[in-house]
Amino acid sequence: MKSILYPGSFDPVTHGHIDVILRLRKAFDRVLVVVANSTRKNYLFSSAERVQLLQEALRGVDGVLVQASDELTVKVAQRENISLIARSVRTTSDWEYEYAMADANKKLSPGIETLFIMADPKYAFISSSLVREIVAFGGETAEFVPANVVKAIQLKGKK
Ligand code: COA
Repeated sequence: MKSILYPGSFDPVTHGHIDVILRLRKAFDRVLVVVANSTRKNYLFSSAERVQLLQEALRGVDGVLVQASDELTVKVAQRENISLIARSVRTTSDWEYEYAMADANKKLSPGIETLFIMADPKYAFISSSLVREIVAFGGETAEFVPANVVKAIQLKGKK
């Protein structure tokens, strides 16, 4: 069984992330989506909420599992017996950060490779922080995120 691990913050999951997950699923039997925490980010949604939003958006898609993690991504990969990590690059500005992360992961666990997948040009300019900014100013997000995420954003605004 060919498996790949796709880590990210997914705060929140966007159409671009869903597109990547579905494309990975075409090439792999199992896609393990890991909702990780980055020390660089202040999150809008909790880890449990981000997992739930992904699970709802991916309902009916088999072979895709979503789980939260507070560990190094390579540790999860080792435990799950997965030797490939997928990361998506949108434009050249993503590259330096991604290259550094792939290099660090390789040094932490030499048996693990990072595979880069190009974002669909349709989604190349969507980012979770852009969505969060639109939310902060009360704008419409339906163009960028799945319907269940739009709803969750609206509920968050009412709290
Ligand atoms: N469509 C839409 N957005 C995309 C995208 C696509 N196809 N591809 C990338 N992005 C965007 C995301 O929206 C996000 O945008 P933002 O920064 O504006 O919010 C950005 O690219 C990257 O986000 P994401 O893919 O969610 O990853 P991240 O950089 O937030 O996550 C972790 C990094 C969580 C995977 C990493 O920190 C990690 O593995 N943490 C666990 C600890 C660890 O092992 N650290 C690594 C040691 S080097």
